[in-house]
Amino acid sequence: MRVLVIGSGAREHALLLALRRDPEVDALAVAPGNAGTAAIAEQYEVDVTSGDDVVKLAKRFEADLVVVGPEVPLVLGVADAVRAAGIACFGPSKDAARIEGAKSFAKDVMDTAGVRTARSEIVDNPARLDAALDRFGPPAGDHAWVVKDDGLAAGKGVVVTVDRLAARAHAASLLDSGHPVLLESFLDGPEVSLFCVVDGETVVPLLPAQDFKRVGDGDAGPNTGGMGAYTPLPWLPADVLASIVDDVVKPVAAEMVARGCPFSGLLYAGLAITSRGPAVVEFNCRFGDPETQAVLALLESPFGQLLRAAAVGELAAQPALQWSGGAAVTVVLAAENYPGRPRVGDVITGSEASGVLHAGTARRDDGAVVSSGGRVLSVVGTGADLAAAREAAYAVMEGVRLPGGHFRTDIGLAAAEGRVVV
Ligand code: GLY
Repeated sequence: MRVLVIGSGAREHALLLALRRDPEVDALAVAPGNAGTAAIAEQYEVDVTSGDDVVKLAKRFEADLVVVGPEVPLVLGVADAVRAAGIACFGPSKDAARIEGAKSFAKDVMDTAGVRTARSEIVDNPARLDAALDRFGPPAGDHAWVVKDDGLAAGKGVVVTVDRLAARAHAASLLDSGHPVLLESFLDGPEVSLFCVVDGETVVPLLPAQDFKRVGDGDAGPNTGGMGAYTPLPWLPADVLASIVDDVVKPVAAEMVARGCPFSGLLYAGLAITSRGPAVVEFNCRFGDPETQAVLALLESPFGQLLRAAAVGELAAQPALQWSGGAAVTVVLAAENYPGRPRVGDVITGSEASGVLHAGTARRDDGAVVSSGGRVLSVVGTGADLAAAREAAYAVMEGVRLPGGHFRTDIGLAAAEGRVVV
């Protein structure tokens, strides 16, 4: 099987490594990729937002399967274009990708499917902003305003704050740039990312993971695209996990079938485990980054065959997934000033080590690997338990050098110490 992966992050590096372990995968390409993926796949430049360009490349590479990593091409209909060209594609249609691309659509699907989520309100008129903020506050205890961009914003469109002025300023700046704002009630409790391979009403969950969205240790500082992750979640009871699949993901998948926009691809449920049970924070239409790097490190089943089965409507016939025991931890190394405008062009050393997955990296003419984005790379460690996986990940990070680079030192720490409770 010849597989073309679209995207350029550490998530795509992880997808390629997992695909390479599948004995049925005999050729890999990536577009546009990064300095790390160039070592394991043929690398092509492509405009990932252009269905025509992706189809041309898929034909040139004679791909049997195209796997679309990021949300932007999916929301723009790249998977539809690939399928229309007669090539199997892992990734939802433009219609189905609205589950991530239009949060108001996702809320409507969840309401109809009877899935618990935050109370929410769309504000598209600045004159209505103050009254709407009042309906979601004032905050009490650890409650907070949750202000989101209704469209795509790479995780950075979200501000969660107890400061009304900060909430108002973020909402006003979104409205100023023409983006409707989604106000939500705050969902209290530890967060879970559950990735499910979905093909219509067939739902195959992967291992649950937890993401760390704030930039600093102890959840300090602004939101990012994700600074680290670990899997599995020792504190998540098996019956709660089963109820996320049965009472959240399956009803949403069924509702999308009923609406004539069946989901085919990776449905990512982001949830908070509240005192009243799981509630959805958001759905995404693709693998999450950085959780994928940890989750796929533990997958033993042939990944290419799993994705192809979903892409061609044969997921229900797949054998149960096999996982290696133990745990995996991802830690993200970010560039100076991230999540603000990152400094780029710094030379990175040690990035060729095993366990390093590249994201914002490029190779200079003189051969040096340099930073080219905010999240520069991920390191992944595995071990018999979370403590061992953390130790392995941070040992890899020790060998990597990036001037001005920063990473969190507490990924998975509270869970390893038994301090996460539901
Ligand atoms: N881990 C957050 C995301 O992928 O959106």
